[in-house]
Formats: sequence, C-alpha cells, structure tokens
Amino acid sequence: MQRTFAIIKPDAVAKGVAGRILSKIEENGFKVVAMKMMHMTDAQARGFYQVHRERPFFGSLVAFMTQGPSIVMALEGDNAIARWRELMGATDPAKAAAGTIRKEFASSIEANAVHGSDAPDTAAFEIPYFFSALEITAR
Ligand code: CMP
Repeated sequence: MQRTFAIIKPDAVAKGVAGRILSKIEENGFKVVAMKMMHMTDAQARGFYQVHRERPFFGSLVAFMTQGPSIVMALEGDNAIARWRELMGATDPAKAAAGTIRKEFASSIEANAVHGSDAPDTAAFEIPYFFSALEITAR
C-alpha cells in the first residue's frame, strides 16, 4: 500500500470537470484519504514547485496555479504513485495516451489538468506540504 499526492488543477476546476476526474480516480481503485479545495497563494505555489524554480516556465507555472481554486488530495492504493502517473498520462497532453486524464481534459503542457508525485520521496514532501496527519483519514 502506497500514498501519492494529487492535484486537480485550476484549469480543470474552472472547466467544471473536477467531478469527472474524481470519478476516474475512484473507478481506478484509488482511495481518497485526504481532500480539500484551496486557492493557492503565490508563496504556497512557489514552495510546492521549488524543485522547478530555475526552469524558464516557473513564473508562468506559479501564475497558473494561483489563478483559481484547485483540489488537493492524498490517494492510497497498491503502487499508487506509478498507477496515478499512468492514469494522468504524459505531462504534455499532445503526447498523452488515449484514455488518460490529460488526453481528455488538459489543454496545454502547463494547463494540464492534474498533478501527481513522481517518486516516493516527492510524495513524502508533497502530502505533508498540504495535509497535517489529522487531515488524513485512516481507511
Ligand atoms: P506537474 O506534473 O504539476 O509538474 C510541473 C508542472 O510544470 C507541470 O505539471 C506543468 O503544469 C508545468 N510544466 C512542465 N513543463 C512545462 C513547460 N515546458 N512549459 C510550461 N509548463 C510546464
């Protein structure tokens, strides 16, 4: 059993497809063990994406992530990190496989609908960045 961190990003919430994405998460056997809607501040988005701070797209990414509310979640399941990345599809929706969330709902490499931890150490940083132990439900 493994946990990963997921975001339904502001583009997907604004388009009104958060419910359809959540359905896919549940249909694929993930347990949502924590979830909240939040409108990220500039400081929160910068801290979350600090690993990308030297990238040319960093400023634009922070602006995008703070443009409206998003839904942050902790997901649990067997091999959850790799399975959630598979269900999301490639970062660039133009390269995402059929049936993936990004293929169906993302509009660009930046406005790509969802986020997922890429490795166990990333999940170990990202889950407690947004959730206290008290907010994570044991199921
Ligand atoms: P995510 O999986 O959340 O991780 C970093 C985010 O940066 C990524 O999804 C995209 O939203 C964004 N991103 C990655 N590469 C690019 C790029 N080349 N141009 C703009 N945004 C990018």
